Amino acid sequence: MKKISPVSRSGRFAHGPGADVAQFTQSVSFDRRLWRHDIVGSLVHADMLRKIGVLSRAERNAIVRGLEAIAREIEQGKFRWKPELEDVHMNLEAELTRRVPAGAKLHTARSRNDQVALDVRLWLRDEIVLLLGEIIDLQRALVGLGGKNSDVLIPGYTHLQRAQPVYLAHHLLAYVEMLERDCERFWDGYSRVNICPLGSGAMAGSTLPLDRVFVAKLLGFVDAGGRPQLTQNSMDAVSDRDFVVEFCAAGALLAVHLSRLAEDLILWTSAEFNFITIADAYTTGSSLMPQKKNPDIAELARGKSGRVIGNLVALLTLLKGLPMTYNRDLQEDKERLFDTADTVRATVRIVAAMLRNTRVNARACAAAASDPALLATDLADYLVKKEMPFRQAHHIVGAVVALAEKTGKPLNRLTLAELQSVNKAFGRDALGVFNLKTAMAKRNLTGAPGTKEVAKQLARWREQLS
Ligand code: ARG
Repeated sequence: MKKISPVSRSGRFAHGPGADVAQFTQSVSFDRRLWRHDIVGSLVHADMLRKIGVLSRAERNAIVRGLEAIAREIEQGKFRWKPELEDVHMNLEAELTRRVPAGAKLHTARSRNDQVALDVRLWLRDEIVLLLGEIIDLQRALVGLGGKNSDVLIPGYTHLQRAQPVYLAHHLLAYVEMLERDCERFWDGYSRVNICPLGSGAMAGSTLPLDRVFVAKLLGFVDAGGRPQLTQNSMDAVSDRDFVVEFCAAGALLAVHLSRLAEDLILWTSAEFNFITIADAYTTGSSLMPQKKNPDIAELARGKSGRVIGNLVALLTLLKGLPMTYNRDLQEDKERLFDTADTVRATVRIVAAMLRNTRVNARACAAAASDPALLATDLADYLVKKEMPFRQAHHIVGAVVALAEKTGKPLNRLTLAELQSVNKAFGRDALGVFNLKTAMAKRNLTGAPGTKEVAKQLARWREQLS
């Protein structure tokens, strides 16, 4: 079999790499998904080389036509990727040069080191925009489910023990807040992705008079004010993967948020809670137990956070011992990055779809929320309003709870005499605190789960997400 030798070996080497070496070092099996961005980068590089006189107009045009033809073939699945040519960059350049002699000039003042940095930045810019769209859609699904069930109350939990009543919408909006911070983190990272490294060469720029500003502007590497954004240190530019780490860190935190949401949903679908029912289409059965309906999507959303966290750790570990500047180790960044991007985007999407196919069991929620113990703190607040120090009120209500337990009665069924046997400060109106409706009307601090405040927050999110 005739071996194809990558251009990077011509001249210096007598032959191409052995099959085992090619197999071990290739990245085209996974980095070919960068092909669009690689071609866009090459088109702009060719324009710049034309501008500074390295390419003639005819050569530039031939290169553009050649790259466009290759793009069409890739699109149609007709392009033959060759692992012997290592990566996406060499595959495209080799094929272009085979078709268009001027292709041999395209790599002028460019190294795969700044090229791959460029491609990943271009790819990640698009990915962040797509991911943000999906996160916003998940926020909408959460607001939708909360809004549709805006009068449903559930117990809020600490330590997974019933604590105080909250609107279900309040609970769901907590995740909307988390996702909003995730969006902010991705956007913040975007500003550090959106910087053009092309022109950094292998690591020391070039002696040729490249027009980096021209390239940056054409590729959209500009800030909000339209100012071109260029990397300012060629060595940093080819070895920097901070922006990949940042994306994967934001992705890991997003995955953790999704995992927590998934855990709540899993609990809520259990017979013990029964707060929600996920539609059959978004659940799975058991191969053995005929009665089972399992929340596998939520479980996988929870489980997949493991690999996303792992990707972040793998990247940090990959980078920590690297000497300046580019080292081939950096090729290992891509699968981690792609996996994080694919995993979080797919998870966000399916969780949104699942929420849109989830029903709230208002009766079970109401039964759980009507537990009068949830309002024990309100009873202490009642005593505070009678000018008792809170610590004393806490102690007294504790004694009331103990009495209720001893007599086997729910808190709100104790008589006034029984309350007064614990403390004389209790008046006739004391049992009124157990009215859930008035209790919820009182919780109207900003951010509290009160009736008006939750309605306000739902309206704010609806508006913001519209
Ligand atoms: N496939 C390589 C990577 O992903 C491209 C850069 C290779 N550069 C080099 N000098 N070997 O990192």
